[in-house]
Amino acid sequence: MAKKNQTLGEFIIENQSDFQYSSGELSRLLNSIRLAAKVVNHEVNKAGLVDITGAAGDTNIQGEDQQKLDVYANDVFIQTMTDRNIVCGIASEEEDDFITINSQDELHQNKYVVLIDPLDGSSNIDVNVSVGTIFSIFRRVTPVGIPVELKDFLQTGDKQVAAGYVVYGTSTMLVYTTGNGVNGFTLNPALGSWYLSHPNMQYPEDGQIYSVNEGNYLDFPEGIKKYIKYCQAEEENRPYTSRYIGSLVSDFHRNMIKGGIYMYPKSTKSPNGKLRLLYECSPMAFLAEQANGVASDGYNRIMEITPTELHQRVPFICGSKNMVEKAEEFMRKFK
Ligand code: AHG
Ligand code: MN
Ligand code: MN
Repeated sequence: MAKKNQTLGEFIIENQSDFQYSSGELSRLLNSIRLAAKVVNHEVNKAGLVDITGAAGDTNIQGEDQQKLDVYANDVFIQTMTDRNIVCGIASEEEDDFITINSQDELHQNKYVVLIDPLDGSSNIDVNVSVGTIFSIFRRVTPVGIPVELKDFLQTGDKQVAAGYVVYGTSTMLVYTTGNGVNGFTLNPALGSWYLSHPNMQYPEDGQIYSVNEGNYLDFPEGIKKYIKYCQAEEENRPYTSRYIGSLVSDFHRNMIKGGIYMYPKSTKSPNGKLRLLYECSPMAFLAEQANGVASDGYNRIMEITPTELHQRVPFICGSKNMVEKAEEFMRKFK
């Protein structure tokens, strides 16, 4: 039960019993994520003050330039979870391969793996626009006692035990689900505590916002082009408003609160879209469904797509139920 003024720490403990197995372990894991998020938040907030922005010189596995804060956030999340010996494995958008974690005392006894996009929307840092962190948590499928394997990470979204994001925005929020709805906590920076500010978040069934990078319009599939024209048509409650930040976390967060649809379709240049199934789409799909929304690749539920590789990309359409269903209708019709 959500209580006014409840802190995230209190909420985690109070709701621990909703969770069917290894709840203490999951609570400790969520606690380490909230701690790492505060550390990253502190750094993100002073990005304009110190010379920390700009490409670090490396490129990640997707061939994109890494910003310094990407590297920093990646290190903080991995280090925080490793130091606390809280998970058996971590996969990150910024790492080529998954990381196996050993416990010194009990070898490989932890039951959870984490997949993370440590800094989402990183190209926005230099221009003082909101960025985020996305995380996804599974129970390992291999038995405890042995090192994690790739198959522990390549699980369908519907096997997630928890997922969430942090949005480093005008205020910093941590929003997550363990399969019992979606709750949002706002950081009080003076106290360093997260307070339950958005209990039981829900997408409105219908919305007025569409979010897509329209610069790629000419490259989009016919169904998406037709749906965009539908959004722009002058009918009873249209045209919709176009809003696109270019940070998935921020675009998702706004659309969940106000009602809207987010689309990153495939294009001729990127045949599977841009977003990563495991670090971005699958956790956002879990949150969306828990908030009464829908997440699809245009034809199938994101939550049911079987991953074949860690850095797999997938077309992503996510948002208010009626809007996503309408977009899917266009996809089927103009296949
Ligand atoms: P990341 O910074 O983790 O690489 O993710 C960026 C993603 C996502 O946040 C955003 O919605 C999308 O890229 C924007 O892509 P375009 O610039 O192609 O629109
Ligand atoms: Mn991202
Ligand atoms: Mn990223």
